[in-house]
Amino acid sequence: MPVNILCVVLALVTATGVASRASSQQEVDPAALPEGDGKALLYRLCSGCHDIPQVVAKRRTVKQWRELTIDMIARGEPAEEAEVEALIDFCALHVGYVNVNKASEADLKKYGGFTAAEATAILAARAAGKTFDSLDALKTLPGIDVKTLAARSAKIAFKDR
Ligand code: HEC
Repeated sequence: MPVNILCVVLALVTATGVASRASSQQEVDPAALPEGDGKALLYRLCSGCHDIPQVVAKRRTVKQWRELTIDMIARGEPAEEAEVEALIDFCALHVGYVNVNKASEADLKKYGGFTAAEATAILAARAAGKTFDSLDALKTLPGIDVKTLAARSAKIAFKDR
């Protein structure tokens, strides 16, 4: 094989490898984010210094989104306080997760997708000293909708990450 063709082949193989690694690390695809004010804010306030896929690569708790967003905005992007709050909420809703062992009852429902009965059961178990380490551990709780748990698992974690 001539050397120049070999180079092209090698470059293609390398590029494909990098692309597939990048997509496997991407927890949320920006194209999957719902259209509307929140997404518009994300693109307006957060795409000036880096790409949006990088911004939404990793799910974060609402507390982590708050710290990150305040840090990023402080770097000089002008924004109203209400816009910052709306952006934090949008990111926590669509690029978020909850730590089942730490999140408040309200956050379990809002950002974790738990029903009111499930959130109450989790809080009661925690108050009794229980720590969860897996979806299976959650399944033992009264009132847990076991059928839909796997489909919701992207938003559920057992420690901060
Ligand atoms: C003024 C430039 C600037 C703007 C605007 C900006 N960022 Fe950043 N961002 C940076 C820089 C520089 C880094 C990398 C260095 C660092 O982490 O300190 C970064 C890194 C990040 C990271 C990766 C951090 C990590 O530890 O994984 C995320 C996520 C992020 N920004 C989110 C946002 C969000 C959300 C917004 C909009 C609210 C935003 N950025 C707006 C400059 C900016």
